[in-house]
Amino acid sequence: MERFPVNPRYPHMLHGGDYNPDQWLHMPEIISEDFRLAKLAHINAMSIAIFAWTALEPSDGKYTFDWLDGIMDTLAKNDMYAVLATPSGARPAWMSQKYPEVLRVTGDRRKNLHGVRHNHCYTSPVYRRKVRAINTQMAKRYKGHKALLVWHLSNEYGGECHCELCQDAFRTWLKARYNNDLDSLNKAWWTSFWSHTYTDWSQIESPSLIGENKVHCHNLDWKRFVTHQTVDFMKMEIDSVKSITPDIPVTTNLMGFYPGLDYWKLAPHLDIVSWDEYPSWHESGQSEQTIAEYFAFVHNLNRSLKQGKPFMLMESAPSPTNNQRAAKLRRPGMHKLASLQAVAHGSDTVQYFQYRKSRGSWEKFHGAVVDHVGHENTRVFRDVTSVGDALTKLDEVIGTTTPAETAIIYDWENRWAIDDFCGVRNDGERKYPEECVNHYRSFWRRGIPVDVIDMNEDFSKYKLIIAPMLYMVKPGVGEKIAAFVERGGTFVTTFLSGIVDDHDLCFLGGWPGPLRKTLGIWSEEIDAISADEKNGIVIGTNDLGLSGTYESRMFCDQIHPEGAQTIGTYEKDFYAGKPALTVNALGKGKAYYIASRMEQRFFDDFYRGLENDLSLTRSLDADLPAGVTAHYRTDGKDRFIFVMNFTNAEQSIALGVKEYGNMLAGGKLRERLTLAPFDIAVLRE
Ligand code: GLA
Ligand code: ZN
Repeated sequence: MERFPVNPRYPHMLHGGDYNPDQWLHMPEIISEDFRLAKLAHINAMSIAIFAWTALEPSDGKYTFDWLDGIMDTLAKNDMYAVLATPSGARPAWMSQKYPEVLRVTGDRRKNLHGVRHNHCYTSPVYRRKVRAINTQMAKRYKGHKALLVWHLSNEYGGECHCELCQDAFRTWLKARYNNDLDSLNKAWWTSFWSHTYTDWSQIESPSLIGENKVHCHNLDWKRFVTHQTVDFMKMEIDSVKSITPDIPVTTNLMGFYPGLDYWKLAPHLDIVSWDEYPSWHESGQSEQTIAEYFAFVHNLNRSLKQGKPFMLMESAPSPTNNQRAAKLRRPGMHKLASLQAVAHGSDTVQYFQYRKSRGSWEKFHGAVVDHVGHENTRVFRDVTSVGDALTKLDEVIGTTTPAETAIIYDWENRWAIDDFCGVRNDGERKYPEECVNHYRSFWRRGIPVDVIDMNEDFSKYKLIIAPMLYMVKPGVGEKIAAFVERGGTFVTTFLSGIVDDHDLCFLGGWPGPLRKTLGIWSEEIDAISADEKNGIVIGTNDLGLSGTYESRMFCDQIHPEGAQTIGTYEKDFYAGKPALTVNALGKGKAYYIASRMEQRFFDDFYRGLENDLSLTRSLDADLPAGVTAHYRTDGKDRFIFVMNFTNAEQSIALGVKEYGNMLAGGKLRERLTLAPFDIAVLRE
């Protein structure tokens, strides 16, 4: 099996994070102390220059790289590496003043003042020219530098601009999408509704609260355009550095479920995916397990964005962030467990925001490796050091992947359409990402690997595909799902699926549209019951081992079997006794339909049944106590199994007859593994 290390030049786990020496140039003693401390914490990689544009170009065209030269050289001298950022995430004040076109315009057509960050116009030729110029300077200067390991493009690309330049670019993009045919745009957008038909391209503008905002496909196409334009800007950045340093991999830090960009469209242009993870551990109302399951899903998403290649955990907080509702301190063990959880799911790095806490401004109380006190004798510093120490023992894991037989579809365009439509229920309870995570929780509890894919992905390598709330079915996808099932695949979908096409136009002739034959059902209407009401599904004959009644809420789809077999029926209301859970046999496979939003206990039992039915591979052949999970990575030969205890109690796991290497603690393990509260072990099989 091929390995995919971040950069083959340095086959070790990266440990470090965002470091802003540009904030401390007037206190050089701080910077030398930073390097002494970094060595103590086994830090080997610093993300630098992320917001350093003014320090690098204090006035138009005048570059001052000497301080960064010093940092790069010191990194190299200490056998440390730079994850070197292009500075486009925030710009100098002189630039906004001299070239106002770089300022972003909001949806209500107000031009922003200079300030904060992530607020440039990504269309502006001036901004692009200035970004390309400084990136080129940097790439030329550090080409061949021993410390240069990875390019970190900008920072958390996001947001949208509604200036005239962007309006023109939007219209140009639309013309290309609709082959210069305004009539086909009018049809796709269903503009005859409310007499909104366009008679000239120049009449089209971006969606706005003071203008057009109720035309679903208009909103959808705008979001697609924002992704397109951001990718176009990013490709310019990639070209500016890659044309000079082709061997240095590029990444940009993503933000999990961030709704503003379709990350499936960004990923193909990156050499490696990276993301910024900020769980609020120990937050009241949620167990650590609940939080861990959610973030495990997002880690899987990041691994899947590049079809299983390792990703980088680019930012995480070594202690609470400054923006939590209440900043509860990490309990002993939690920092190491959370950091290595990312590695378990495919990260080859543990990096933090931030290395040294800034003295002033917005993030002065944000978690950091080095606190204002300035020395190593802190609990957080010791936690970070323990992570660094653990990472030095995981070289063998570098570049390995996790083959999964199950995939859950999480599709950004589907999410945009679900979030935007008006009807069924408008009370904030649609919750598409949460529904996807809830299906995944059952796999986490059994230690079964899952990929997260979009609907354009290749389905053929999976045994089981789960598509919660597949509201939008893009052209060809219905046929692809049918072919997957016919060849022996198992498909699971839920209420609110097969409703619209990729223009957000409803399928005519009955829901679930192109999935109707595969599922063997017709969905006639949906009952959106009040948030405090409950229904249930009463289970009948089935071979999944389900029995009794499971609670259901929110959506109660009214379905009629057209060939499918009924496994469960509604418990209550005027449709009591009517089908609510069905399975349809098609070719060699099966397609399940879950008509209502189910309690977690249902998913746990349902997917245990499918796990047995399909003999899905588990990461560890052992019974896992509640709150404990296992996730493995492999090079095709050895398996590296991360066993994680997300409970605040000691847990014991019977290992059976096999003997395992104990990678963190050393020695061998057999029969029984005991984990302290919030502890982790990595087993080599
Ligand atoms: C984001 C940014 C960082 C920092 C952190 C704080 O991830 O990229 O610069 O602001 O949030 O949590
Ligand atoms: Zn703009």
